[in-house]
Amino acid sequence: MTEVVLDAVNKVYPDGFHAVRDLSLRVPDGELFVLLGPSGCGKSTVLRMVAGLEEITSGSLWLSGHLANHLPPRERDLAMVFQNGALYPHRNVRGNIAFPLEVAGQSSSESHERIVELSRALGIEETLHRLPSTLSGGQRQRVAMGRALIRQPGIFLMDEPLSNLDAGLRNELRMEIGALVRSLGVTTLYVTHDQTEALTLADRVAILRRGILQDVGTPQQVYDDPATMFTAAFLSSPPINLVRASVRADQNDGIFLGVGDQQLRMPWTDPRATALVSQHGSFVTLGIRADAMHPDPDGVISGRVRTLEFHGHEWLAHVEAGVVLVDSETFHDEESQFAERTGQSGLLRRLLRTAGVIAEEAPIAPIAHGGTHRRSDLVFRMESRSGITAGETVRLSVDTDRMLLFGEDGRRIDKVER
Ligand SMILES: Nc1ncnc2c1ncn2[C@@H]1O[C@H](COP(=O)(O)OP(=O)(O)OP(=O)(O)O)[C@@H](O)[C@H]1O
Ligand SMILES: [Mg+2]
Repeated sequence: MTEVVLDAVNKVYPDGFHAVRDLSLRVPDGELFVLLGPSGCGKSTVLRMVAGLEEITSGSLWLSGHLANHLPPRERDLAMVFQNGALYPHRNVRGNIAFPLEVAGQSSSESHERIVELSRALGIEETLHRLPSTLSGGQRQRVAMGRALIRQPGIFLMDEPLSNLDAGLRNELRMEIGALVRSLGVTTLYVTHDQTEALTLADRVAILRRGILQDVGTPQQVYDDPATMFTAAFLSSPPINLVRASVRADQNDGIFLGVGDQQLRMPWTDPRATALVSQHGSFVTLGIRADAMHPDPDGVISGRVRTLEFHGHEWLAHVEAGVVLVDSETFHDEESQFAERTGQSGLLRRLLRTAGVIAEEAPIAPIAHGGTHRRSDLVFRMESRSGITAGETVRLSVDTDRMLLFGEDGRRIDKVER
């Protein structure tokens, strides 16, 4: 049984950069666990600490109940596949997959059957005699996976193994990876920045932002019931509407949420109303997904349709509704935000940081309600064009049951229990 537990793990790189903060996670035996987050949020750092390729600054790593902070990588019973899983160029596919068995001194007759079986499961049986240079990108990644899995590791680590492949191949291989690791029952930590990949593949998923855990749960839990505004925004496509709203509690009628010059009412029978009482007189952020609003002559929100976008399976309408949206820029990861602000890449930034030209960490843009707003459009989704045209005024009703409520700190006001 291989269980992976991280307990308050921190990583501070030698240049002082705090890449992972107080991360606690428990991945039970046999789980397919996905680490998701934007570029630079610390995913690879976490994986490399589990693998023993990166030192843990503080906190504990437990592998099957044993403290493993200082265990050498080869004693951790794990295998890893990287983004550009380099193969041995002068060994054919069979030789690449067999390599770990040879190192372990296993006889070739013993290994023969297992190689054939595994290459069949990976769909590369026909390529066993070929050199890596003659394979497609997808086939090469399959060989890298075969080489990692041949010794039946207790833990399988994958760092964006599909990111160099085209969309069709990604989908195909993603499904195969899921099926393969589940059939082997190997505890798997899989890193990606692609939310679709995470939601479709994972038993459970953890979302990281700037080295801080935002949320962890099954794909459905983190999507339907996200613990933070960041998670809600990161997992939403089309983007979730994040709307600033004033809160007024009325003894008789419930909570009134002021959105622009319009008022949404939440009756006292709604369990979230109680959580909102303490916000009376201040502002919260409402998360309203594009499919949680629809045209309705009696709708509370009204606005002018600015544009209609055709997306094949749906239309998206952008509506100027006089509301204030909390700027989704707030959720950009630190590296890209920095790059946008200054035109500097992450690498350049790291160099500057090392040289002491810039501070250890850029200040985290506030998720607070002051200063980060912009006037913009609400987006709602329609299955068909529904006779709506650009320029006309529509009224929209909001599916308040599905509305998410976030406080100043970007966390849900009605706390999420997992
Ligand atoms: N050796 C290092 N020294 C200093 N900072 C580092 C080092 N390695 C990584 N970092 C920084 O730590 C942060 C996390 O890096 P990491 O590689 O874990 O990100 P990631 O989430 O895997 O990103 P990506 O999706 O781009 O691969 C980044 O800001 C990165 O610049
Ligand atoms: Mg990475």
